[in-house]
Amino acid sequence: MGSRISGVGMYAPPRIMSNKDLEKLVETSDEWIRDRTGIEERRVVKQGTPTSDIGVEAAKRALDDAGISPDAVDIIIVATLTPDMLFPSTACFVQTKLRARNAYAMDISAACSGFIYALSVADALIRAGRGKTALVIGAEIISTILDYTDRNTCILFGDGAGAVVLTECPDGEGLLSCHTYSDGDLWGYLHGPGGGTVAAGAPDGEDGPKRVITMSGNEVFKHAVTRMGEVSLEALAVNGFTKDDVDLFIPHQANLRIIKSVGKRVGIPEERVFINLSRYGNTSAASIPIALAEAREQGRCKSGALVLMAAFGGGLTWGSALVRM
Ligand code: UT7
Repeated sequence: MGSRISGVGMYAPPRIMSNKDLEKLVETSDEWIRDRTGIEERRVVKQGTPTSDIGVEAAKRALDDAGISPDAVDIIIVATLTPDMLFPSTACFVQTKLRARNAYAMDISAACSGFIYALSVADALIRAGRGKTALVIGAEIISTILDYTDRNTCILFGDGAGAVVLTECPDGEGLLSCHTYSDGDLWGYLHGPGGGTVAAGAPDGEDGPKRVITMSGNEVFKHAVTRMGEVSLEALAVNGFTKDDVDLFIPHQANLRIIKSVGKRVGIPEERVFINLSRYGNTSAASIPIALAEAREQGRCKSGALVLMAAFGGGLTWGSALVRM
């Protein structure tokens, strides 16, 4: 047995933060952000919104799309680097809010590669007989871990959630392969130092370190292009496909220059590369499922389409998934 994507859904909070809004917070410009990243605006939740709330919204839409009730869900996996709490998992909050009483739930921590990792784990659990139906969610409220005085990072990210329903199917259909990698030697290029045991601070949190994202943009950029290119080509080679067989390539939406360079490396022309970065910025683990849901809505990944997805992120981590929709 294998697994297939039988439903997709997304949720983007309504509040828009434009590049012009950021000009008021840091020394930057709309022109610089558009030129260097391709981002025009991003979404930001109302303060105090938990990640599970937006994850649930995306999940409900994916379940509706699949025509499946929450009772039928066996596995819930949430990929996030902005969980509701240290524990329990955000997936447990999603479970109770959805009333998915028959599921077991857990989070995956692989930063912006989290959705590909979560897809890989859910597929492996279904193949191992540990459930027939999985809800895989990427949900992030990155605005809670951004330093809005650091122009290197605060201009890049946005809040949002995307979800897919995975259901059992014959082997060789649906999700054809997942490839996941990490290199912990490179953790320092992209990390959020606060909130863990390394820099725990006092239990009351008063003297804890800032939870914010810390990043070496240039280093991350180089690795992103190389590794997403490699892992995408690997997905095609392992399955006996070429770049010409791909109907839609969905790379992690981090920077337009990264997306274009990876597209070139893999050899997929721009009209078959999905890009919605200008409207959402980098939503980390949510970026691929949001893109998938929008692509589906736009009729760009119909039933039978071959869709290649690739991501990279803190860890460093990276991965790809090849799917027959
Ligand atoms: O999911 C993974 C998340 N991380 C990423 O995807 C990060 C990947 N990296 C990037 O996207 C890019 O490296 C950035 C967008 C972060 C930076 O773009 P860059 O073209 O690599 O710029 P840079 O860091 O080399 O900086 C060039 C110049 C510098 O000024 P000087 O030293 O040349 O005078 C920066 O201080 O641009 C300046 N700069 C800015 N100026 C206006 C850096 N950030 C900004 C800014 N607004 N927001």
